[in-house]
Amino acid sequence: MITIRNEQPKDYRQVEEITRKAFWNLYFPGASEHYLVHTMRGHKDYMPELSFVIEENGEIIGSIHFTHAKVITPGGGEISVVSFGPVSIKPERHRQGFGRALITHAIESSKTHGHRAIVLGGFPYHYKPYGFVGTKKYDIAMTDGKFYTGVMALPLYDGALDGVSGKIKFSDGLYPDENGLEAYEATFPPMKKLSLPHQKAFEQAASELDEQECK
Ligand SMILES: CC(C)(COP(=O)(O)OP(=O)(O)OC[C@H]1O[C@@H](n2cnc3c(N)ncnc32)[C@H](O)[C@@H]1OP(=O)(O)O)[C@@H](O)C(=O)NCCC(=O)NCCS
Repeated sequence: MITIRNEQPKDYRQVEEITRKAFWNLYFPGASEHYLVHTMRGHKDYMPELSFVIEENGEIIGSIHFTHAKVITPGGGEISVVSFGPVSIKPERHRQGFGRALITHAIESSKTHGHRAIVLGGFPYHYKPYGFVGTKKYDIAMTDGKFYTGVMALPLYDGALDGVSGKIKFSDGLYPDENGLEAYEATFPPMKKLSLPHQKAFEQAASELDEQECK
């Protein structure tokens, strides 16, 4: 049986273990996303009400975590949006629909909570299936003024992003002090860090500019 529920403090370590395994050697040798999950929970922008675990027969197999973000308009105004990530499913259970169930649940809950839009960074093949599109469509750039294919938005109601443009400011909670990573990592059983060919491709994809003309 599959259940999705809010994450609770008793889940923290298990969630971090799964996050670590899911991301290990994926984007670079080792991983830091478990450390991010560990630190972001203490940040003011963290949204426990939109952070969920998915369980299979009572055992946690994945999690998703939300933070507040904002679009800074050209006039200096701030429009509140939300963001999610990391999201992960334990490796043995990948591509069996659990991520879809978790992400869909989280999107629906964001609507229920009355949020305007989700803006996130990631790979389009992960998020297009839910309706996310590059933020260039909405004239929402990164803080450097550029549009990236990996920065995407999903309006949560009709017209939610109409007339909204500017620069997306993700939470500082997504950029933890990396100095703490090594000591934190040492609290887990050792895993081998490997340089793998796909990491280079991910690195290139992460900085790919969105060159498409907007209509
Ligand atoms: C990304 C992740 C959460 C997806 O969960 P999942 O349970 O494996 O995904 P699902 O089976 O629900 O797939 C849903 C859809 O997402 C897309 N998708 C998911 N993983 C994909 C992959 N590796 N490559 C291409 N498309 C993918 C597909 O459209 C898929 O539908 P399909 O299987 O019918 O083609 C999971 O694979 C994971 O933990 N990966 C490692 C960590 C990570 O990369 N997290 C996302 C970045 S923050």
